[in-house]
Order: sequence, then C-alpha cells, then structure tokens
Amino acid sequence: MTTPKYYITTFGCQMNVHDSEVLAGLLESMGYISASSCEEADLILMNTCCVRENAENRTFGHIGNLKSLKDKNPDLIIGICGCMVQQPTELEKIRITFPWVDLVFGTHNLHQLPELISRIREDKSGRIFEVWDCDGAIYEGLPVKRDNPFKAWVTIMYGCNNFCSYCIVPYVRGRERSRQPEAIVGEIRDLVKDGVQEVTLLGQNVNSYGLDLPETNWSFARLLREIAKNTGIRRIRFQTSHPKDLSNELIETIVEIPTICRHLHLPVQAGSTRVLELMNRCYSKEQYQELIDRIKNNIPGIALTTDIIVGFPGEREEDFRDTLDLVKQVRFDGAFTFIYSPRIGTPAANMSDPVPEIEQKLRLTNLIKIQNEISLEKNKAYIGTLQELLVDGPSEKNPQVWAGRSSQNKLVHFKPAPRIKPGGFINVRIAGAQTFTLEGEVIG
Ligand code: 5AD
Ligand code: SF4
Repeated sequence: MTTPKYYITTFGCQMNVHDSEVLAGLLESMGYISASSCEEADLILMNTCCVRENAENRTFGHIGNLKSLKDKNPDLIIGICGCMVQQPTELEKIRITFPWVDLVFGTHNLHQLPELISRIREDKSGRIFEVWDCDGAIYEGLPVKRDNPFKAWVTIMYGCNNFCSYCIVPYVRGRERSRQPEAIVGEIRDLVKDGVQEVTLLGQNVNSYGLDLPETNWSFARLLREIAKNTGIRRIRFQTSHPKDLSNELIETIVEIPTICRHLHLPVQAGSTRVLELMNRCYSKEQYQELIDRIKNNIPGIALTTDIIVGFPGEREEDFRDTLDLVKQVRFDGAFTFIYSPRIGTPAANMSDPVPEIEQKLRLTNLIKIQNEISLEKNKAYIGTLQELLVDGPSEKNPQVWAGRSSQNKLVHFKPAPRIKPGGFINVRIAGAQTFTLEGEVIG
C-alpha cells in the first residue's frame, strides 16, 4: 500500500492557520504525508472562515471544484472544518449542496480527526457530520506540524466574550478559555530547544488572558513576563489586543522587556463614537486616542497597526469623516480595511439603515488611499536607521532578494550574503522605503 497523502487549504486568520498546523500534525501521526497538490491527495481538508461573506463564497467555490476529483477517485476523502461549519445554516447548505463532502467537524472537536477518519475509512458509504456546539475543553499536547522552523504560533486562549455587534467569532469559537500558564511556558521552552526564535501568542483578545483561570492573579502582562524570564525565546509578538482591555501594566511590561517586539495591533474598527457604540466596542473615539497617546509616550518607536470596517449600518458621511480624522491623527503604520459584511445571527445583521454598496466602496477606496500615504511616510522615516532583522529567507516574489522582519514587524528586503541564513539575526541600515516594504543594506 502506498503512503496516504493529505492536502489542507486554509482560509482566515492566524488562529485557523495554526489550527491547520495541528490538523497536519494529527494526520502525520496517523502516517499521512503532505501532498504537493489537491490532485495527488487521498484526503483533502478545507479549514474555513466565516468572518466575512467573501471568505464563505470562496470556500463554496473551492468545494464545488472538488467534485471532479471525487468523480475520478471515489476513495478520496473530502473534509470541511473550521468556523463556517459551526453555523447551522452553512452546515445544512454543505450537507445538501455538496454530497461529495465526506467529513465535517467543527472548531471544538478537531482533536477527533484521527478517530473520524478511521470511521470514514471503515464505512465507505457513510458521511460523518460531527460538529460540537458547546465550548470545547482545551486539549493539550496535540501534535503540531509547524510551517516555519524559526517562527511559531502559540495559542494562549480560545474564544471571545466581547460580542462586537458585527462579529460572528463569539458564536463559532465559544467563550473565552485560557490555557494554563505552565502549558504555554512549557510549549515555548520546547520550541526554543527546537530552534524557534520568535513566537506569536494568539487569542481573539489576549488582554483578557487569565481572567477565567482558577488562580485569580493572572494577567496577560504577567504571562509575558513569565515567558520572557523562563523560556529563552528571542522575540515575542502577540495578537489581537482589544483597546478596552489594554492595561498600563501591559504598557509597562512592554517597556521593561526588550524581547517583546515594538509592534501593537490594536483594531479600532471605526472613528465615530456613535458607530463604535452601535458596534458594541465599549470605547469612544477620545478614549482610543488617549490610549494611543499613552502608548506612544511610553514606548518609543512602537509601530501601530489596526483593523477598520467601513459602511457599518447607520454610518453617515460625518461618521466616516471621524474615521479619516482618527486615521490621520494616529498615523497607523498599516491598516487592514474591510467593507462591513452582514453575518446572520449577529445583532448588526438586523440593524436598519444599511449603507449602499457603492458608497461603501467609495469610502473604502478613500480610506485606503489616505492610509497608504501615511504608511509610505512612516516607512520613509526609517531611512538611515539601523534595524535588527530576523531573516525569513528568499522573498516570495523575487528569490534574488531576501526578506526579514524588524521588531516593528516591518518587512525589509536585502541582498543575500553567504553567511546569512534563514532564522538568523542580522543588522541592516534602511536605505529605501515603499508603502509595504523597506530596503536594507546589511551591516558588518
Ligand atoms: N464585516 C467586516 N469585517 C469584519 N470583521 C469582523 N467581522 C466583520 C464583518 N462582519 C473584521 C474586523 C476584525 C477583523 C478580523 O475582521 O475588523 O478586527
Ligand atoms: Fe470579534 Fe470583537 Fe471578539 Fe474581535 S473582540 S473576535 S471583533 S467579537
């Protein structure tokens, strides 16, 4: 018998990217090896996202395309998992519209994958749809096949309690559950032994880490201090921070610990206090600005990025102007910008006064133009400075040029030299700047 091969397609956020690393680890522990394309796979998994409608539409397109592969090879196992299938309407749609899908499981039971595959293999005629709707327990010690030997994602908590009115995540990922600090520190220690230089701690709102733990005096800042002190990791990043919960203790901790990277991703979502209230974000424009001032005043050189949604129901021209005004005042290094996408089951999906699509698109274009100008200006300010980079390796677009990341998470291109290796640290002097990248000259 030949060794079975798997192929995983991932949509969505870093949490999903990391879940796919766990799925790959589970499959490899069953004897599967990775396939280089869907066509040569015996098992195809699609790890889905439902945060916006276009992610779902792309997924449905992909599932449709898999029919021809199933027709050619009836033994092929096609599985769908992730956030999308946690929604009953989407689950039914998959069941009815795509009879060639053999296996569906959700975000709370991905540890069951080996058992579910064994059941499918034993009973070739059956389909298995197993989605748990409760908040899953935390399963420690699952095997992980990491994509990058030097940089690792480490989940510190699952779920979200915030219920922003537009967001589906709390419904598909459940309530907040923090991992035990010892488990996180232990995992990072093992990663360091394996040569990992940088970890990114993941959670929907890392700032509420520990609030649900039985020992009461945990905080995210304390977790960062433990990791910095007890693991030997060279660089620590984290995402995502909710502005309402970002504490002074966290700011002080970032100042104190040089291995915490000088970058904060702090989604603002909108610049109008009225819209922020409709979004249930629990802060005003002024409170956000005050927080940004506190961060900038205390952490010199910090880079700030954000997420912004335009065209939320009821967003008037003057509300959008507030967003532009905030963007110009804060001068983010970069922003992920989205058109509001109604999600069934969220409060915003039933709000009146939708913004016409044409207006949403105009606002998005306008916002991106202004943000890109700011990003370029901010990048130009790095010209002449020295930066330490963690080397990624050859750039995806042009392998003649190599890429690395600075502490501020800036993507820096440079000319490779024989002694420079992926996973190593180098110093560069910044010599050029574009909107999304910098150019560096290697020093020493
Ligand atoms: N429509 C558009 N953007 C959304 N996001 C979350 N839900 C929606 C939605 N319904 C964006 C937010 C969040 C990012 C991950 O996705 O900006 O921070
Ligand atoms: Fe969604 Fe808000 Fe939770 Fe982020 S904090 S995952 S936007 S509900």
